[in-house]
Amino acid sequence: MIRKGIILAGGSGTRLAPTTHSVSKQLLPVYDKPMIYYPLSTLMLADIADILIITRPEEQRLFEALLGDGSRWGISISYATQSAPRGIAEAFIIGEDFIAGEAVALILGDNIYYGEGFGRMLRQAARMEYATANLFAYYVKQPEDYGVVEFDESGAVVSIEEKPETPRSSYAVTGLYYYDSRVCDMVRSIEPSARGELEITSINQAYLNEGGLRVNVLGRGVAWLDMGTHESLLDAGNFVATVENRQGLKIACPEEIAFRRGLIDAAQLEQLAADMPGSDYGRYLAALRNTESAYLSDEVPASPRDVAGKGPK
Ligand code: TTP
Repeated sequence: MIRKGIILAGGSGTRLAPTTHSVSKQLLPVYDKPMIYYPLSTLMLADIADILIITRPEEQRLFEALLGDGSRWGISISYATQSAPRGIAEAFIIGEDFIAGEAVALILGDNIYYGEGFGRMLRQAARMEYATANLFAYYVKQPEDYGVVEFDESGAVVSIEEKPETPRSSYAVTGLYYYDSRVCDMVRSIEPSARGELEITSINQAYLNEGGLRVNVLGRGVAWLDMGTHESLLDAGNFVATVENRQGLKIACPEEIAFRRGLIDAAQLEQLAADMPGSDYGRYLAALRNTESAYLSDEVPASPRDVAGKGPK
């Protein structure tokens, strides 16, 4: 069972220059909330309440000012730094004390996941049944930009290749990874790649060689976005705005998830709303208790019979 999670929110943000010269990519707004709220919400949906956030040293205090120790959302947040972007897998060296020999999830700070049934899939995979590593793959137009996973006819994983020139499938490995308690040993067994980074694909390859790696395919009804370029950042903001303004329900609102998953009670939610007077976000929190529950739970799929004529006011 996975109970701990790491958000990797360092990196150089080269492609978002000049914006990222003075501020972390993960603190930039994606429509109505900072980027880091999205991966944080994903971990919370997976019922992961013990979270380590890895940032560049110069920005750690900004993340602390934004998120604190997590207690107001019923979770625990601690912090560590990465002095240079030496690769995604370095998270398991930096986070070794935090991990303390347990199974752990890692999510990239610039990834958004959203879609029906996704929370249930996350919690199911977190049980780590029959798996030593659980990945999440997504069908994309340009698989050559990502780690690419190839399946055989039975759905078993055959290969994983990092940014291949000729991809063997259209399935990209997305930025969320679950590993068993041996991941810190695994990271010591891999070598840096030609570009000098500790590659997450090398870790995945090691688990694949052992035979315990599973890949959960995200269906076409799920959205997976990353936000590394000006174009993709704007696309993500527009996506969030379109869905939120149509439904009147927020994507990746940690306060809402905390309330729905029973981490905070109605009085605490009310206090969080009161802390943001004058903002639409605060008004949303204040109104949450009255929203039809069929729209808020992802435990029970909302069927037309359950929700007909009961849209949020
Ligand atoms: P990337 O998008 O690969 O890198 P980046 O954010 O530095 O951006 P650019 O390529 O434009 O320079 O990183 C994906 C995510 O992982 C992002 O949230 C930053 C994070 N990351 C780290 O925190 N440390 C690292 O060493 C690497 C490689 C990435």
